[in-house]
Amino acid sequence: MTRPLVLALALGSLLVTGCKKPEGRARPEASSTVSSASAAPSTTPPAPVHLAGDTERGRSLVEKFECSRCHDGTGVASAPLEKHCVTCHQDIWADKFKAKPDKIAKWKKTVVHYLNAPSFENAGERLEPAFVAAFVLRPHKLRPNMVSTMPRLRISEQEAADVAAYLTRGAKTAAEPPSGDATAGRQVLETKACGTCHAFSGVPDLPMKPTLSTPWQKGNDGIELAPDLRFTRDRTTFGKLWRWLEDPAKVKPGTLMPKLGLTEKEAKDAAAYLLGAKLEPLAKKPVPARLPVLERKVTFEDVDREVLQKTCRHCHTNPDIARGDGGPGMTGGFGFIPRKLDFSTYESTNGGLLDLKGERMSVFTKTKDGTPLLVAALLARQKEEAGEIDPEARGMPLGLPALTAEQVQIVESWVAQGRPQ
Ligand code: HEC
Ligand code: HEC
Ligand code: HEC
Ligand code: HEC
Repeated sequence: MTRPLVLALALGSLLVTGCKKPEGRARPEASSTVSSASAAPSTTPPAPVHLAGDTERGRSLVEKFECSRCHDGTGVASAPLEKHCVTCHQDIWADKFKAKPDKIAKWKKTVVHYLNAPSFENAGERLEPAFVAAFVLRPHKLRPNMVSTMPRLRISEQEAADVAAYLTRGAKTAAEPPSGDATAGRQVLETKACGTCHAFSGVPDLPMKPTLSTPWQKGNDGIELAPDLRFTRDRTTFGKLWRWLEDPAKVKPGTLMPKLGLTEKEAKDAAAYLLGAKLEPLAKKPVPARLPVLERKVTFEDVDREVLQKTCRHCHTNPDIARGDGGPGMTGGFGFIPRKLDFSTYESTNGGLLDLKGERMSVFTKTKDGTPLLVAALLARQKEEAGEIDPEARGMPLGLPALTAEQVQIVESWVAQGRPQ
């Protein structure tokens, strides 16, 4: 298989959560056309990056790409409150953010994304650098109960390798040949109720099913942060894995994975199952069919209410309106240059954005196939979720669930109708 195909399949099968309906877990396909032998990859994951990375360069890249606006434990100072996507959103939910109570109450209804992100505390003891690099280059959904995903950055393969070397620095790499009894390991997963927090898609269902009825529920961070165990084999090695299972907090202080009292034998058996269980392929998320332009009049108010204020805000807004700096799609950030795209008003939306050379352009500029840029970015995100990465277009909303076909229809109809106010 060629690499793009492999990637397309991998990403397609991984991105399973829709915008309106957060699924509790990824659903394996019933068919068994692809069977993996023991230690075969989780699906067809992004090819691991095996370039040697430089930790010094990696550190400055972590600063440049502002990983610490979302992730703790990078070893680079955490971003201040007005720039930290996760801390500020959490503060709103914890009633710690200084604002009028009616504002807070209103925000709690809308702020559902970036309420959690995994921390990199002792990442080298848990994650392989080749995985980290591949994931940063080609992020896919790892956590079925987390609505936000890792954004697709403008990062090169070498930069990704450098960042990975830095984040996993100091890891002990003593290779340990896998041992353990996978059948007994399956029993461990069942009796220890690992399924209360984890999905393990592609194997027969674990007894419990983690499902959140809303995208984010206070106090359920353990469920939100628990990765789908399908991907564990891409991320770690046997030696690291059984030590983690035996005592997670010893490997990563402060982790929300509890110590479940596994003996060394049980931990090794569970690790054998996690790394070796046969996996069924995941269903590919379909790209929604594009709906025809609406006959009824669509105004900016409709677009604003249904789309812009709902999901584009905070990355593309006016620093005076937003708390914080106006967002990475406005003032730059995450390694992106400032594009000055501000969706806060009708006028600012019509004011366009800066192209990559810093020249003003319209957000309605026709792309190669005639689709206005604004609509093209929304369609690109739907395709990214189905595993089709367009090197020309970055999907929007960046790192968040794609809009529904109906939402895209509203935007497209408004543009087609000459953008009435
Ligand atoms: C806008 C917020 C944001 C920024 C900025 C960001 N990430 Fe992430 N990242 C996330 C989220 C959310 C996840 C969890 C995604 C998932 O589980 O599907 C994640 C997951 C990851 C993971 C997987 C870790 C794990 O334990 O599963 C790695 C590795 C990672 N990010 C690296 C980086 C690096 C390196 C940078 C900077 C170059 C970065 N991220 C910047 C939000 C962000
Ligand atoms: C200083 C506090 C603060 C910071 C920092 C902040 N936000 Fe927000 N964010 C808010 C508030 C308040 C809202 C609700 C705005 C509204 O409803 O008018 C919001 C809303 C959002 C929304 C729309 C609601 C949702 O959850 O989908 C997104 C997306 C978002 N923020 C992303 C980000 C990202 C990405 C960052 C980091 C670059 C960030 N925010 C940084 C306070 C903050
Ligand atoms: C209370 C919820 C909870 C329970 C119960 C739980 N875990 Fe976890 N698990 C987590 C969280 C949260 C993480 C992510 C830890 C972190 O990054 O700090 C995690 C991480 C992991 C990882 C690392 C995954 C990866 O891909 O990096 C493995 C493997 C794992 N858990 C297996 C298990 C097994 C096996 C059991 C049962 C013996 C179990 N977990 C029980 C919450 C839980
Ligand atoms: C998490 C932050 C974030 C969110 C949420 C977000 N954007 Fe963006 N957006 C960005 C960044 C960063 C860029 C600059 C990307 C670049 O330079 O490649 C950008 C660029 C764009 C562009 C220009 C794309 C191009 O290829 O030139 C459009 C159009 C756009 N965003 C529309 C939207 C719309 C519409 C939404 C809501 C549905 C949205 N964005 C939500 C961060 C975000």
